[in-house]
Amino acid sequence: MDPLHSAPKAAEPVVVFEDVALRHGGGPDILHDVRFSLAAGSFHFLTGPSGSGKSSLLGLICLGHLPSHGQVRVLGTETSSASRAARAAIRRRIGIVFQDFRLFEHLDVVDNVALPLRIAGKDPKTHRKDILDLLGWVGLGAHLDAHPSALSGGQRQRLAIARAVVARPPLLVADEPTGNVEAPLALRLLYLFEAMHRMGTTVLVATHDTRLASRFAHPVLRLEAGRVLPPDAAGQARP
Ligand SMILES: Nc1ncnc2c1ncn2[C@@H]1O[C@H](COP(=O)(O)OP(=O)(O)OP(=O)(O)O)[C@@H](O)[C@H]1O
Ligand SMILES: [Mg+2]
Repeated sequence: MDPLHSAPKAAEPVVVFEDVALRHGGGPDILHDVRFSLAAGSFHFLTGPSGSGKSSLLGLICLGHLPSHGQVRVLGTETSSASRAARAAIRRRIGIVFQDFRLFEHLDVVDNVALPLRIAGKDPKTHRKDILDLLGWVGLGAHLDAHPSALSGGQRQRLAIARAVVARPPLLVADEPTGNVEAPLALRLLYLFEAMHRMGTTVLVATHDTRLASRFAHPVLRLEAGRVLPPDAAGQARP
């Protein structure tokens, strides 16, 4: 089978962690015995205190890290045994909001958002209205020509979110996507993720803001002492 085109079967979860451990370098395991799956089209929050490993876990999904033990399957492919080309192909199908944004400083706001479309082989000119609508929604309509360095922290975060969703990826992973914005705007940004979810995108949002997560009826995965507690153990209703 061509690894570049190994699509998940209809019933297969989009993300599967089986007995996963992760350590950074020669340090201790910061994640261990992690087992969970994200069904296609589901929306989960991932919570846990600072340093509990939320970003590290997201890094395993986005192929920034490989597990030191166990298996991670993303979009139908086991990440550790995948070729470099297969990993790149998976990564292109994930919309990622990094905690530190990772914007392209040499590109203006519109071109930052257009980049995932270019990578997907689409002509950003034909999607210009979508791009402008999206930038309007995240409140950057007056900053189209600005470069990221001219934006505030909250504006940079909103740009990172627009870039992550513009190509309508099947999987959206967001790391503290509302950490730099006021509460009303945080809700508005989460509604954008809700809209993606309604269109069929599988969504995982890491946040330490349990109050914000509790405003949505989505299951919460909780990281505690290196393990992921399933939604029921965290006292959350199943979807
Ligand atoms: N590249 C790295 N090298 C070594 N240790 C790391 C690395 N990245 C993270 N860690 C360590 O792994 C642990 C988990 O960090 P991580 O950033 O995943 O937590 P987090 O839950 O995302 O925290 P926060 O809420 O502050 O973003 C911490 O002890 C951190 O110091
Ligand atoms: Mg983090």
